[in-house]
Amino acid sequence: MLIPLILSGGSGTRLWPISRRNLPKQFLSLAGSETLFQQTVQRALNLAGATSPVVVASDDHRFLAAEQLQALQISNTSILLEPVARNTAPAIAVGALQALTKDPEAIVLVLPADHLVGDAASFSAAVAKAQPLAEQGWLVTFGIRPDRPETGFGYIRRGKALGGGAFQVEQFVEKPQLEVAERYVSSGEYDWNSGMFMFRAASYIDELGKHAPAMLAAARAAFENANIDLDFIRLEAKTFASAPSDSIDYAVMEKTSRAAVVPVACQWSDIGSWDALWLAAEKDANGNHVEGDVIALDTRGSLVRSHDRHMVATIGLKDVVVVTTPDATLVAHRNASQEVKRVVEKLKDAG
Ligand code: GDD
Ligand code: MG
Repeated sequence: MLIPLILSGGSGTRLWPISRRNLPKQFLSLAGSETLFQQTVQRALNLAGATSPVVVASDDHRFLAAEQLQALQISNTSILLEPVARNTAPAIAVGALQALTKDPEAIVLVLPADHLVGDAASFSAAVAKAQPLAEQGWLVTFGIRPDRPETGFGYIRRGKALGGGAFQVEQFVEKPQLEVAERYVSSGEYDWNSGMFMFRAASYIDELGKHAPAMLAAARAAFENANIDLDFIRLEAKTFASAPSDSIDYAVMEKTSRAAVVPVACQWSDIGSWDALWLAAEKDANGNHVEGDVIALDTRGSLVRSHDRHMVATIGLKDVVVVTTPDATLVAHRNASQEVKRVVEKLKDAG
């Protein structure tokens, strides 16, 4: 049984002021009419043999997740609710435990809910290649050819060929320093980790037990003592909160010897920042991506988004981001997109 496991617990602070704590980016329509979460669910359901997904989300977003699934007329979804965020390793653990209740041989395909994937056919082809490897016990990653020394990603060094264009992972390095990332990219031997994974649910649980036993114990207890409320599975708060917070990349992928990589050729973007959104978006002849009531004069390389009928005009600008909402406006250099999270931190400090 192939069970999509959708991770939608992130808070998306770098896309402020559109992405807010109560409405993070995965639940917004940032590209296309459906939200990123809905597009991810659809992409998963279009895969041959995929069953209804398991969604792992924050308890705060339960109605958003449920309504957006309902709008797609998808039923039989398990929505696991986290009382607090503990990063992706525990989230995937509870998702894998839920998958095991449906089928002890379950293969899970972990998909972040906030990625844009352009070319569905190559994505499906990569998943089809990964499935037999997952069945053999590999923890399969999907590798993307890097085109810049991005430090926000994991890097995968290809090892021994496993046939069918897949490789054993020789080394997995999460979020390296810039100089290291530069070296990796120029060597041509590394792929980016796309953040999507495929494995037997049981393989992940085994590896987590090996490399992070306390985390597995906490996740298991939170799952076993969960409270089931209609479609929602509320993880036990006390035990889930006691899990160490860590990502799958650091907790498992950097350590396991059972990792494999399937290169994937599809257009892919982790819409992590306004700059990433600009890169992935359609642009006019001046390299601008504009949305809403916008007049952009002598403006180049910019992303300008107006809200509702609020007119935004720009003159003589290059490489900027202007985003308006009813109660907040962001004006930033596009190269400073990563710094937007500092605004959110300031707002938090101000209470
Ligand atoms: N349920 C749940 N709970 N989901 C979470 C949590 C959590 O506590 N934390 C993050 N997520 C979700 C996010 O919403 C996102 O969809 C996904 O898990 C990955 O988390 P990110 O925080 O966006 O990770 P990242 O982008 O820094 O790094 C990961 O993705 C990169 C590619 O986009 C890593 O896997 C990198 O190695 C990879 O290159
Ligand atoms: Mg991300």
